[in-house]
Amino acid sequence: MNRERILAPSILAADFTNLGEEIKTAVDAGAKYLHIDVMDGLYVPSISFGLPVIESIRKCTDIIFDVHLMIVKPERYLEAFKNSGADLITVHIETLEKPEETLKKIRELGAKAGLALNPETPIESVYPCLELVDMVLVMTVRPGIGGQDYIHECTPKIRALNEELTKRNLENVDIEVDGGLRLDTVDEALNAGANVIVAGSAVFEGDVHKNVTDLLRKLG
Ligand code: DX5
Ligand code: ZN
Repeated sequence: MNRERILAPSILAADFTNLGEEIKTAVDAGAKYLHIDVMDGLYVPSISFGLPVIESIRKCTDIIFDVHLMIVKPERYLEAFKNSGADLITVHIETLEKPEETLKKIRELGAKAGLALNPETPIESVYPCLELVDMVLVMTVRPGIGGQDYIHECTPKIRALNEELTKRNLENVDIEVDGGLRLDTVDEALNAGANVIVAGSAVFEGDVHKNVTDLLRKLG
């Protein structure tokens, strides 16, 4: 089964003084999703940005907003993120008291539902929810900071997830990878079955148009 391969630049690494232009450049070069990392200083040590920023950039592009919530009790904010312009809302399995309920709620709001897991969380922990998600996000670095190195020990988790989805005829569920994806690591994730590739520093450090073009060539 060949899922569509998509590049999702993460604006965490963008130049915030020039955010609208950087987003437009990435979209013009062919990116299909915009990955938006929301951090609350509790679930992860960093604080990034939140609703007003998403509302603001929503006005400058129609690209799919892939919102990655690294926050405690994300169920408090699902409606607010949907209203701010999120198309896809991803929550961490480690933060959820009632995963099924939260994922159903995301879909009821009219967004696509994503479920993320950290490097140390076993891939089997998301298996009970696979029927309720549009995407699984396999973190390939510890969440919270951009520019880290890809953790190779996560690759077998991508492969196992891909096999499980195939076994259950859930080829419509996307497999996103996030953290340390660059020209030299992206093949490993793609070969294991990932199809949505998040890239922060690899897109926004240097020439954004060229970086997106080079990465998209890898995605084929
Ligand atoms: C990390 C974030 C990532 C981050 C990726 O917690 O979830 O989306 O921006 O950055 P790079 O691609 O630089 O590793
Ligand atoms: Zn992310």
